[in-house]
This record gives sequence, C-alpha cells and structure tokens, in this order.
Amino acid sequence: MAVDRLSLEIPDRSITVLVGPSGCGKTTTLRMINRMIEPSEGTILLDGADITKQPVNTLRRSMGYVIQNAGLFQHRTIIDNIATVPRLLGWSKDKARARARELMERVGLDGALAKRYPYQLSGGQQQRVGVARALAADPPVLLMDEPFSAVDPIVRKGLQDELLRLQAELGKTIVFVTHDIDEAIKIGTMVAVMRTGGRLAQYAPPAELLSDPADAFVEDFLGTDRGIRRLSFFPSTGLELTTTAIVAVDATAEQIAARATPDVPYLLVTGLDGRPLGWSAPGDLTAGAVDPAELLPFGRPFVHGEESLRAALDGAVLSPTGWAVAVDREGRAAGVVSQQTIAEAIRTAHAEGRDAAKVAG
Ligand SMILES: Nc1ncnc2c1ncn2[C@@H]1O[C@H](COP(=O)(O)OP(=O)(O)OP(=O)(O)O)[C@@H](O)[C@H]1O
Ligand SMILES: [Mg+2]
Repeated sequence: MAVDRLSLEIPDRSITVLVGPSGCGKTTTLRMINRMIEPSEGTILLDGADITKQPVNTLRRSMGYVIQNAGLFQHRTIIDNIATVPRLLGWSKDKARARARELMERVGLDGALAKRYPYQLSGGQQQRVGVARALAADPPVLLMDEPFSAVDPIVRKGLQDELLRLQAELGKTIVFVTHDIDEAIKIGTMVAVMRTGGRLAQYAPPAELLSDPADAFVEDFLGTDRGIRRLSFFPSTGLELTTTAIVAVDATAEQIAARATPDVPYLLVTGLDGRPLGWSAPGDLTAGAVDPAELLPFGRPFVHGEESLRAALDGAVLSPTGWAVAVDREGRAAGVVSQQTIAEAIRTAHAEGRDAAKVAG
C-alpha cells in the first residue's frame, strides 16, 4: 500500500507541503487529490464535497498541476504551452494568448521568450512556464510535485520566493510535494512529514516541527541544526541595538572620543551615506579621514525588524568583532548588537514561545 490511512485537513488559500523520504507516497497522495489515482478506501473532500461525486474533468479544471522539469510540450512555443488549458476550455486564441502573456509577467518571465520553444529556455525558466501554465485557467487549487528539485540552489531559492509572492497575491490553495525539508519549512504554512508506507509522522506549522518534533523519525528528518533554523521564526524586532557605537568616516577626534565607551570595544564606521564600512578600535581611527581599507570587515548586516534572530546571530558570528550590524531597509547602519544580547533575546523569545509568525531570512 503506497498510502495508508492518511488523514489531513488542508487549509485553503495557503501552502501545504508534503515532505518525506523517496517512496513514502507523496506523489500518490497528490495524484489522489486530482483523481489520477483513485484511493482504494477513504474519501477526499474538497470544500466539504466528496471529489468522486463530481466529473473528473471538472475537478481537474479546478486544479493546476506542476511537475518536476515542468513537463512542457516540446513542440509548442512557450506562449502556447501556457495557453493550453484556456484553449481546451474553448477560449479564442487571442484571449488565451493575452492571458498567457499576463501570466508570463506574473511569474517573472521576459515576454521576449513567448515565441521560443521549451528547449531554448533554462531549467528555471521552464519551471516558471510550468507554473504559469498551471495558473492559466485561474484554478483555485495548485498541485505541485517536486517542481523545483531539478534546478540549482540559487535558481531554486528564486523560484521559492516567487511562489511565496504569487501565493500572497493570488491566494491559491497549494499542495506542494518535496523531499527537501528546508524547502518545506521555508514555503509551508502547514507541513505534513510522511514516512515510508504512506503514513503521517507529523502535521504541523514549520515552527512547531522545529520546536516539537513528534518523534525520533521527524527529528532525524529535520537534521542537526534545528535549533538554529528555528531562530528564523523569531523576529529581530525586539532586539535592543546599541546606537552610540557608530561614527562617520569623517568623524572628528571629539566625536570618536565621545562614542568610545568601555562596553563597546569597537566602533562601526559608516560612509557619509550612513552605510557600514567596517569596524575599528577607537584608538586606531584617524580623525577626519578614516581609511576604509584599514577597517575590519563587518560581515553580513541584518535588516532590523524585518529579518529574524537567525540573521542577527549569523551576522554576529560572521563579524570579527562578535557584534552584528543592524541596518534599515535602505542599508544604512541602525545600530550594533553583541552576541550576548542576541543570546538573551533568543532565551526570552523561547520562554515566550513567540514564534508563530514566519519572518524572512
Ligand atoms: N502505479 C503504481 N503502482 C504500484 N505501486 C506504485 C505505483 N506508483 C508508485 N508506487 C509505489 O508506491 C509507493 C509510493 O510511491 P510515490 O511515488 O507516491 O512516492 P514518493 O513519495 O512520491 O517518492 P519520490 O520522492 O521518490 O517521488 C512506492 O513504494 C512506489 O513504489
Ligand atoms: Mg514522487
């Protein structure tokens, strides 16, 4: 039996991820939803109605389907691939193509690619075409089976971000299959971890999987650094920044002296535009004309209030001074924060269990 007594309630207008090792029954589950496979027992309800009670074509029209490698029609142009379902539904060629063009833009494809054939596109572009094609008839449900697993990590991240943006814009109900737990945690509103034999190991929001894995199988599947990954669910909003330890590149001797305090061993030097340039011990700074080449690198800054405690901790770990640099959305230095302060914020956040909301980074 490929899937055994699986019971899931999939929330609408959100992304539900099915994740698990190869052969655990993810594809089988997905295909039961659009009746490419009929379950031997049990029922599947869509909006409360049994899916076997409606004609299979009507059902499939309400569900876009995206697979690995996009599964495009090789002999059709990109625009005609995307227009496939509207054409099947009897739309005129012009109307279907206009819709296809609109969707190309939606999924971030250059309109100049419309007349090309699938083999003339990169893997990532083909995957976007697959998503556009699935969205063409505006179905309320999207089924996606490992759609991004054949592309490199950078393109994959781009496609994931794009999917999250599309989801926020279009509010589709998406069931997404992957065997990559990081992908599941990043994009899932709810994540179903499946084990071999088509059994459900745990069904929970990603933050809860990381904080409370149901058993050793789930824990093992999550991998070793789940404590660190969990931090991406804690916002950096409440993190108290030290704003006094910043000097501009043209700071006077008095300004440098005023900024140097015993609790901050280094000062962050910023350009005249407020962007961080690097760290320096106060005594090493030349008043009026700091040489940026002499500064210690500042690592990766985090966007205060927007990125998570994980990003803040990462910034501190990467920084040679052990202090992370916080910036605003424009990239201007907003303050600095020590590893110790971040560690305290983490303890407080854990204590308050304040991890319901997903944060970027
Ligand atoms: N048409 C079929 N007939 C019989 N058994 C099948 C069929 N398709 C798949 N299976 C079996 O059902 C089980 C689940 O397969 P399924 O394709 O759903 O796994 P999966 O989780 O999608 O795996 P993967 O990550 O490798 O894609 C496997 O043991 C597989 O061998
Ligand atoms: Mg599969």
